Amino acid sequence: MAKDQLDTQGVSRRKMMIGTGILAAGTALSQFGGLLKPAQAKGGPTEKWPWPYVKLDPRTTAEICYNEWYRVFCGCAVINSVFSQLRKKVGEPYTSFPIDSFVFLEGGQMGWGTICGSPAGANIVANTIIGPRIAGSPDGHHISADIMQWYSEASMPVFTPKKPRINPAKIVKTTSESPLCHISVGKWMKKSGLSLKSKERKDRCARVAASTAYRLVELLNTWHAGTYEPTSDFSAPSEHGITGQFNCMDCHGDDVPEPPMSTS
Ligand code: HEC
Repeated sequence: MAKDQLDTQGVSRRKMMIGTGILAAGTALSQFGGLLKPAQAKGGPTEKWPWPYVKLDPRTTAEICYNEWYRVFCGCAVINSVFSQLRKKVGEPYTSFPIDSFVFLEGGQMGWGTICGSPAGANIVANTIIGPRIAGSPDGHHISADIMQWYSEASMPVFTPKKPRINPAKIVKTTSESPLCHISVGKWMKKSGLSLKSKERKDRCARVAASTAYRLVELLNTWHAGTYEPTSDFSAPSEHGITGQFNCMDCHGDDVPEPPMSTS
């Protein structure tokens, strides 16, 4: 579902703006804060971390997520779509997980429009299942980096539910080129001409969450099968000396500021 639907213009634009400094995902990650040593990575007091995973069906997960959105919104819907199935298939520790605890992710965290809850929820799931960013086991981070990039470049929403609440023809597709809720929703509202409170906007966000859950489970399944390869190749901290998303010019125009690079 995912790769063939990526917005190729977005990809080439990103490549153009980051120039030639394309790094392997592993290198990029290790530049930002370094890896935890295995002994420093701690789970909860009673449970081991990471948590067990069994293969899930992406389409079933996306359907659960779509419906959950109408109860708990994006971030929580993505988390619940995976963890509710693992509660049944695995049991503990998923049974003890407070399943609605991440409802605050809605609207880019309480309506502040920061990170979209869909990638935020997906990254919580990936890191719970895959574990800490320790040497030899960085895949939770890699899958999260892949999700951020995929979310930014995909023509969203990708997924259409079996029983859509709104006619799919009314849900236009947009590429956010950003994982930020504000930008993702804003670009969609601009193209559709519809308000934040419209039924279509709500259904669009439910489908964006479902699309992200689908992609997440695809990635988790490849990881589980031992065939996962990281694809994200971008790291703003190491390339630009500041945390950030790839398309600096979207916000700064032609005048992207240079951060101070001296370490002292
Ligand atoms: C989502 C919008 C957005 C994106 C994308 C973005 N920035 Fe910024 N950036 C800002 C805003 C807003 C400020 C605060 C500007 C201010 O205070 O004048 C800022 C501040 C900065 C600063 C520090 C303040 C300054 O003016 O020197 C640097 C350096 C910077 N950005 C570089 C970058 C680089 C490099 C990228 C791409 C890797 C980037 N930005 C991407 C919005 C963005």
